[in-house]
Amino acid sequence: MVLLAWVLSYLIGSISFSYLIAKKVAGIDIRSHGSGNAGATNTLRVLGKGPGIAVLILDALKGLAAMGITHLMTGDAAAYAVAGLFVIAGHNWPIYFGFRGGKGVATTLGVVLGFSPLAFLIAAVLAVLVIAITRYVSLGSLVLVTVIPISLYLLDKPISFVWTSLVIAVFAYVRHYNNIQNLIAGTERKLGDKSNRKL
Ligand code: G3P
Repeated sequence: MVLLAWVLSYLIGSISFSYLIAKKVAGIDIRSHGSGNAGATNTLRVLGKGPGIAVLILDALKGLAAMGITHLMTGDAAAYAVAGLFVIAGHNWPIYFGFRGGKGVATTLGVVLGFSPLAFLIAAVLAVLVIAITRYVSLGSLVLVTVIPISLYLLDKPISFVWTSLVIAVFAYVRHYNNIQNLIAGTERKLGDKSNRKL
């Protein structure tokens, strides 16, 4: 049952909503536009607020859905935690789309909501503050994934949740390698930049 729950989590994560919505709305492959990332930020950048917010919500919901399914199928804290890794891996390396997906941040929101609504709130509020102040979504994303394991630890959540969220943070840092390089060089795209104009 545990293996089946993890496979299902991976398959759910592999549904790339940014790819599907961009194809439907504009007939494009989102991975050939903007930053090339199949995620909510790039959908917002390329197609505007409506599609961007839709992708953010749907990608987060698939994280939450995988957690819900794993909870029902296993009822085991460690198996539940690891399902979070599988759904994010699906998002980042989707089986249906040539293993070229996103960076896992919106899906992480859904996973952490399944771990602890309070940790979700703390991390999300801090990330939104960082984005509002700096206008760097990537920086906010990195703050988000860093704050999650710390919050889960301080809130005394199961240690499997803490370890899993640390691995999720490592995934996110690796996926944001180019963003980190750009942040250091001062060339990272800011939210609302004119160069990020819609198609
Ligand atoms: O969640 C992804 C975000 O942190 C960065 O996206 O498209 O600017 O590379 P992007």
